[in-house]
Amino acid sequence: MHEADPTSQSNYLQIATKHITFDWTVDFDNKVITGTATHDCIANIDEVSEVIFDTSYLHIEGVKVDGDAVQDFRLGPKHEVMGSALRVSLPRTLSAGSSILVEITYRTTANGTALQFLEKEQTQGKTFPFLFSQCQPIHARDLAPVQDTPSVKLTYSASIRSVLPVLLSARRIFPPSDGPAHDGKIIGKDEVVYTYDQPTPIPSYLLAIAAGNLHYKPFQVPDGKQWKSGVWSEPELMDSSFWEFSRDTTSFLAAAENLAGPYRFGVYDLLVLPPSFPYGGMENPCLTFVTPTLLAGDRSLTDVVIHELTHSWFGNGVTHAHASHFWLNEGWTTYIERVLLQIIHSPAHRGLSSVIGHKGLLDALAFFEDKPKYQKLVIDFDYGENPDSAYSRVPYDKGANFLLHIERTLGGLEVFLPYVKDYVATYMGHSITTETWKDHLYAYFQKNGSEGQIKALNSINWDAWLHQSGLRLPVEMEYDLTLANPANALADRWYESRHIMDISKLDFKGSDLDSLDANQRAVFLERLESYNEPLPAGHLFHFDKLYSFSETLSAEIRFRFYTLVLKSQAAMHFVQGAANWVIGADDTGVIKGRMKFCRPVFRAMFKVNPNLTISTFRQAQTQFHPIAQSLIAQDLGLDLARLRVSG
Ligand code: BES
Ligand code: ZN
Repeated sequence: MHEADPTSQSNYLQIATKHITFDWTVDFDNKVITGTATHDCIANIDEVSEVIFDTSYLHIEGVKVDGDAVQDFRLGPKHEVMGSALRVSLPRTLSAGSSILVEITYRTTANGTALQFLEKEQTQGKTFPFLFSQCQPIHARDLAPVQDTPSVKLTYSASIRSVLPVLLSARRIFPPSDGPAHDGKIIGKDEVVYTYDQPTPIPSYLLAIAAGNLHYKPFQVPDGKQWKSGVWSEPELMDSSFWEFSRDTTSFLAAAENLAGPYRFGVYDLLVLPPSFPYGGMENPCLTFVTPTLLAGDRSLTDVVIHELTHSWFGNGVTHAHASHFWLNEGWTTYIERVLLQIIHSPAHRGLSSVIGHKGLLDALAFFEDKPKYQKLVIDFDYGENPDSAYSRVPYDKGANFLLHIERTLGGLEVFLPYVKDYVATYMGHSITTETWKDHLYAYFQKNGSEGQIKALNSINWDAWLHQSGLRLPVEMEYDLTLANPANALADRWYESRHIMDISKLDFKGSDLDSLDANQRAVFLERLESYNEPLPAGHLFHFDKLYSFSETLSAEIRFRFYTLVLKSQAAMHFVQGAANWVIGADDTGVIKGRMKFCRPVFRAMFKVNPNLTISTFRQAQTQFHPIAQSLIAQDLGLDLARLRVSG
């Protein structure tokens, strides 16, 4: 196992950034950000004579050290994954504890993967362009020169010139969020200088920017809370965004505080992005980014908000040291997300989420059948290996199940939650490895637990959970099935009916689904997909006629429906519909940019009709986020570089 971050070329162990001051201009015409990043660096050891930053597709214009221009900087050769190291020789040698200011003047370029500039047609309002970033895991280096490792935590401040409102993963200084949009100036025309401050140290992957015709509406915050909360969106989506999130967000955050301690970031806002946003949510501090597919109109997808706000402690507070320990972020967050579901709703809701997660885990483990190292919880990345290629449900659900297994082995939530508080308090603000986590777990129960609990810990098969690959969990887990049972029962009835060839004899009705909520419907579809034998085509046509899944606006349901039918005899019938849906060539009119939806649908289509799949992808390729483009291309066995040139 690498001790140092295997995805960074920076020399952060010798000298590390403590604070960055950004001075940026957003240039929508040329689709670049230009400006400076000034690093306040502190040496960790004696005799430091250079600072090395990660960069990727940045154009470096000049470097100043302590205010004086220096010539002695070099941009190294481009590593395909890690980018080009920027080495700055220091005019004086530093001793441990001393600091130096390094100012880098640069511009981003069109090839970078952190930023997506959208044309106005790709937004809801179709009047103004849009910009957003996605820096996790290692794209911050495409936005600015940084020591791009979660082992370095820094504060930052920024001033950004822009003709459109700008949001950052930080606290707004000027103009005030709740004042007139764009300081009352003309949006799209007048330049306004936005200023921000992030006083809580964060890893580089949490740097974030968005700009567009963005408006704000505050939520009501529970009495006695010091933090603020609200939602940002284009004005066209404000009513639906506010409706979807205003009832629950602040009470979720308050519930998480009860488990994990006070919220430290001062502001918890949500930003609803355009459809190409490649994730469900991204826990950027002060400003969680969410996909517009959460606007279901029934508040059924707010689990994503629970997940993202939980990262405020697990990930943004206690941070994984580097990609190999990513599960400490996502496994912990998923585990706590489900504990919150139990507290906010019921144990049955925790169970339902676990059932859905378990199916996602089995799919991910099967997907990596030929790449067993990505089936492991702790992944031994080679130097320069791409963490985006390893991204899957494994760290989420193997991780969450591991913690659940430990919770149960130790005696349940009552015993485990005080430990959770201590874990957070102990490592808040730090970046840690799996070993540090495990040592603390033992130390906590040695101090506060019983001999029986230490024995219980010793009974756990640590190696199997942390370091072994395989298609299943090391321990078969049991979940509360109260909510999954009715969904499974309906699926089982369909499966049992598969030999009845006369459709008129089938005993199903459109109202079968009335008593199932959105998550139960997902379980229903997943159960059907999990049978060895798919339903006959005639059944699936009838099924769709009754339940209209091929028309539902819920992306969570639609993508599961397509992955189900594209594996069946009815595949040819549905493949064009799936293609139209995923690129928005249907009445939804928008691409399904969230990778959770588009990647499995493209993959399932590809097995049915490769030519159609490739031409569909090529037709809409540039609408997808650069990260999604590259992973879809990889899934379809395409060479993205060649596609870009020819396509
Ligand atoms: N931090 C992740 C998103 C991420 C992970 C982006 C790794 C890039 C690299 C975020 O918290 C997340 O897990 N999003 C999930 C939400 C879901 C689990 C509720 C998603 O996008 O599906
Ligand atoms: Zn997450």
